[in-house]
Amino acid sequence: MEAALFTQFIRDLYQTKDFIPLHAPRFDGNEKKYVQETIDSTFVSSVGKFVDDFERKIESYTGAAKAVATVNGTAALHASLYMAGVKTGDLVITQALTFVATCNALYHMGAEPIFVDVSPISLGLCPKAVDAYLMEHAELRESGCFHKKTGQRIKAVVPMHTFGHPVELDELVVICKKWNLMLVEDAAESLGSFYKGKHTGTIGEFGAVSFNGNKIITTGGGGMVLCRSEEDGTHTKYVTTTAKVPHPYEFYHDEPGFNYRMPNLNAALGCAQMEVLKDYLDKKRQLAEQYQSFFGGSDFKFVTEPEYATSNYWLNAVICPDKEAREDLLKATNDSGVMTRPVWQLMNRLPMFEKALRGDLNHSEFFEERLVNLPSSVSKGSLK
Ligand SMILES: Cc1ncc(COP(=O)(O)O)c(C=O)c1O
Repeated sequence: MEAALFTQFIRDLYQTKDFIPLHAPRFDGNEKKYVQETIDSTFVSSVGKFVDDFERKIESYTGAAKAVATVNGTAALHASLYMAGVKTGDLVITQALTFVATCNALYHMGAEPIFVDVSPISLGLCPKAVDAYLMEHAELRESGCFHKKTGQRIKAVVPMHTFGHPVELDELVVICKKWNLMLVEDAAESLGSFYKGKHTGTIGEFGAVSFNGNKIITTGGGGMVLCRSEEDGTHTKYVTTTAKVPHPYEFYHDEPGFNYRMPNLNAALGCAQMEVLKDYLDKKRQLAEQYQSFFGGSDFKFVTEPEYATSNYWLNAVICPDKEAREDLLKATNDSGVMTRPVWQLMNRLPMFEKALRGDLNHSEFFEERLVNLPSSVSKGSLK
């Protein structure tokens, strides 16, 4: 495939000669109206009607028993891990092919990652690899699952739905049950993605969503914890605020609180963005179809949703035939004002996590060398 041809294809898609970013937000619904309303009400901070509305909207869209709004997705993940009972010194199984926030959240719980390979079907955590790792390195005791060599408790499994494509959740649920592990989904990238009809982030005990500026919808900065039970939701709300025991005037707190509350200003933006989510999802699917037909017949493989899932196609990606082809594509597009980006470097290469335990990472390494993200903004009109 000729990179110049590709650049032209994207320019034609977006119908512009200007710089084309990877993912830009859009605000052409009720965003200004609701933000203005928030300012007029003076309730700009951590309480207000938009926070409640936004949480209820996310609950009804995702089917989560309870949704708790947070300042960002990393905070949602941190609170989810806390709620899942992850403690200092615990091990948590996750993928090396992820954005650093997944690992930062567990680092700040005092836990350590075990990196296990991703599946070529989903680009997310591979159930077979998780099971194989546990069979070789873990033992079940009455008090939980433990690493045979280090003696540390393995407490949770954190899959990440890469670029919005759902991982194989049924298999992970079975493995987590078998090994007595909590399943916490990093659904930061997958609002609008469904696994066998169920929204991502609602299948594990907890799920964390992000509304960062580059996500499918945004609140500026923001996140949401999706909880499987009302009870967990109520407790999550309690700790993500200040864990204050209700009383008309006394201040008494019986647990360390995070104060991760999403401000009402941000939630106002979120309520307006929820109104256009369906349209964004349709447009993203259309865009993905265009990419897929462009790459069809070439030795570049466009990443499509797994057959069991409906993906939000948040960030489009292509698998280049080799590292050299990847460099050529990155250089040609970025040199001509079309932003493309290599996938993240594997987490085990970062200084904070280079000593972490890990299984074999063959697929992760394969994708690290070849995956490139493509412009994925929701276009203004319908696509050409
Ligand atoms: C996989 C993943 N996890 C977590 C996060 C953290 O979300 P935030 O940036 O809202 O903290 C992000 C996105 O930024 C992400 O892509």
